[in-house]
Amino acid sequence: MADSRESPASDPDCCDLTVSESLAPHRDTKTAVVTSISFDGLLKEPLLLKEDLKEGCGGQLWPAGMVLAKYLLCQHRSNLSDKTIVELGAGGGLVGLAVARGCEIGQPPIYVTDQEPMLPLMEANIQLNCLSSTVSATVFNWGEPEPENFPEPDVILAADCVYFEPAFPLLISTLKGLLGPRSVCYFCFKRRRRADLRFMKMAKKVFDIQEIDDDPDAKTYNRENIFLYTLRAKFPRGHQKSSP
Ligand SMILES: C[S@@+](CC[C@H](N)C(=O)[O-])C[C@H]1O[C@@H](n2cnc3c(N)ncnc32)[C@H](O)[C@@H]1O
Repeated sequence: MADSRESPASDPDCCDLTVSESLAPHRDTKTAVVTSISFDGLLKEPLLLKEDLKEGCGGQLWPAGMVLAKYLLCQHRSNLSDKTIVELGAGGGLVGLAVARGCEIGQPPIYVTDQEPMLPLMEANIQLNCLSSTVSATVFNWGEPEPENFPEPDVILAADCVYFEPAFPLLISTLKGLLGPRSVCYFCFKRRRRADLRFMKMAKKVFDIQEIDDDPDAKTYNRENIFLYTLRAKFPRGHQKSSP
């Protein structure tokens, strides 16, 4: 995990996030930096993450991204090898890159996706970690049609994607389009404002949502209002579900 300084994280472009962010390191908003992250030694070869806020709030480490990456490294290290994995709202690509580095993964690349301005940062981080054979960066705007030749994911990763109310229905619509009968979304959510709960309320109408109960660190991050869930498509009773 990153160090535990208190950092008021606020972003003028897209987020009003003036909150305690003790699970992610403080960032000076003006200069690009490269941070080395081993997730408490879970990665033998640490990830190098370029953080650069000039194109938006995704250009830095966010606490839910740190929590989701660590959870996947602990609990899903060896059961993702035959899965097609897509990360939504990836920012600099932290979660997808951590999975690519530390989990057993198979043939299909991991698709880290975000809006156009984040594409160069995702690509820079793929290069920085020599992961271009296993990770692919793609522009994917929520609420819009999937990019051309986009795969049907088995596993969707989404961390800290709930912070801007007008985007809630867009994110829900994208998740709805991507979640099939056998796929799962690992969804890490940091509740900052009352409005964020409206997202969960909307999502519960559309998805089968379960709080993840196999993470020994849960009590710690729950204290920071961070919660980990699985989201699955809702299907009629009796429909077979099987996913990692
Ligand atoms: C708070 S950041 C989290 C970044 C990363 N997941 C992490 O945990 O470090 C939210 C990300 O969602 C992306 N995002 C916001 N609205 C989006 C949209 N409509 N379509 C696609 N991505 C979006 C932002 O560009 C940003 O990178």
